[in-house]
Amino acid sequence: MLTVAPLNRRKALSVAAAALLASTLSGHRQAHAQTPSAQSAFPQPDEYVSEDGVLKATLNVTRGPVSIGGEEVIGTTYNGTYVGPTLRLKPGERLELTVVNELPEVTNMHFHGLHVSPSDISDNVFIIIEPGATQDYVVEIPENHPSGTFWYHSHAHPYTEAQVMGGLGGLIIVDGLQDLLPEDLRDITDYAVVLKDYQAADGAILLTNIDSNAPTTRTVNAAVNPSISIASGETQLWRLANLSADIYYELQLAGHQFHIIGEDGNPVWKVTSVDSLPIAPGKRFDVLVQGGEPGTVEFKTLEYDQQGDLYPEALLATVTVNPSDLIAAALPEKLAEPDDLNDGVVDVSRTITFAKDQASGHFLIDGKMFDENRIDQAVALGALEEWTIINNNSQQHPFHIHTNDFQVISINDEPYQANSHVDTVNLPADGTVTIRIPFLDFTGKFVYHCHILNHADMGMMATVEVTE
Ligand code: C2O
Ligand code: CU
Ligand code: CU
Repeated sequence: MLTVAPLNRRKALSVAAAALLASTLSGHRQAHAQTPSAQSAFPQPDEYVSEDGVLKATLNVTRGPVSIGGEEVIGTTYNGTYVGPTLRLKPGERLELTVVNELPEVTNMHFHGLHVSPSDISDNVFIIIEPGATQDYVVEIPENHPSGTFWYHSHAHPYTEAQVMGGLGGLIIVDGLQDLLPEDLRDITDYAVVLKDYQAADGAILLTNIDSNAPTTRTVNAAVNPSISIASGETQLWRLANLSADIYYELQLAGHQFHIIGEDGNPVWKVTSVDSLPIAPGKRFDVLVQGGEPGTVEFKTLEYDQQGDLYPEALLATVTVNPSDLIAAALPEKLAEPDDLNDGVVDVSRTITFAKDQASGHFLIDGKMFDENRIDQAVALGALEEWTIINNNSQQHPFHIHTNDFQVISINDEPYQANSHVDTVNLPADGTVTIRIPFLDFTGKFVYHCHILNHADMGMMATVEVTE
C-alpha cells in the first residue's frame, strides 16, 4: 500500500502567508519581522496536515535501517523515520489512520493525551494488529478540544518499551495554540523538539534487555546535537516532548528561560517561567523561548537522579542567537481561563498503590500485574473522582491515564498550584500524589499506567471502565 503524500509544505506556506500578511498590514505590526530563523538547519519531523476537515494517512510499521544523527541503525519505525510524521489537525476534525503492521510481532496504536473515544476503532488500546495485518483507526477530535502537543505511539503490551525506543512514536498537534497568544506572537516559528534516546548493539536498536540506566544516545528530532537559530529578541514556540521509552530529562537552555504556555496539550491558566524543566517520560511542554544575548548556547539535559538510575548530563542541541535589534515581545499572562477542580464536588474517592515486587521484579498496581480482562476501576460517566496515588517504591513513576485529563491537587500532602489539567504526573519516590479526574463525554474501557514503558510492560498498568 502506498503512503499518502506527506503534506509537509505547510511551514513554507505559512511563512510566505505571514510575510504577505505582514506586508499587507504594514506599519503598526513591526514587531513582526520575525523570520530570521526560517533558514535554520534545525531538522523537523515530516508533517501530515488535515484537509477539508479530515487527516487521512497511512503509517507502515517496519523494522529496518533508519538514519539517526547521520548513522544508520536498525530501528522500528512509522514510514521509515525514527521520529514518526507529525499529524496536524484542528479541533472538530477527524483523523483517519491506516496502520500496516510489517513487523514479525504485534503492534497497535494509542493517541496519547487526546480526549477522544477509547472504544471501537478510535483510541482503543485493546486492539491488537497481528503481523501482516492492517488496521484502520478513526478518531473524532471534539470541537472544544484543547490545542497543543500530543503524541501517538505503540501500546502493544508487553512490547511497548522496545517498540517506542525503536522509533514508534510521533507528535500530534491540535492546531490553535498560537491563536491564544497576543497578536504579535501568532505567527512565530513553531518547532517540534522531540526527545528520544536509544541504545544499540551490533547496529540495531535493542529489542530485549534494555537497561534504562545504561549509556544511551540522546536525540532531538532524530538528530544528535542539531543546531537551532534564533534572533536576539525573537520569540519561538518550542514543543518539548519526551518520547523516550523510559528516561527523564531536565531541560535547560543556558542563559534563557522556558515560558510555559501549555502542558500535556492544555493551554495554561497562568504562564510561568523556569530556568530548567524536568520532563517525565510521556510529558509535553509547549514553551516560548526568547533569544537573549547574541552568541552560542547549549541546550542540554541536566543530570537526573531517578533513585537507582542516574541519567548523566547531555548536550541536546546547540543554539545560535543571532544579533538583531528586535525587542522581545511582552509575554502573555495566561492562555485559558482556569477550570479549577478544587471547586468541584467529588463523587468518588479511591486510593491506588504503585509498588515493585522485589523478588519477581514485577511492577504492580494495587498488588496486581496488568490483566486486560479485569476491570480495576468501574466509573460512572460524568463523575468527578479523587484518586490518591501512593508510590510505595524508592523510584519515581510517571502516572498516566488515557481519555480524561486530570488536575494535580497535592504532592506529598502539600497543596499543588496547578496551571492546567495534565495527562501525566510524576509520582515522587516513596511519595503520594492526589489528583481529581472528571470522567467526561466517553464511556468505554481504557488504562492508566506508569509511563516508564519497561514498568508498564512488566505489569504496572490497570484498567478503568466508564459506563452510563
Ligand atoms: Cu502514552 Cu498509555 O500511553
Ligand atoms: Cu496515553
Ligand atoms: Cu514506573
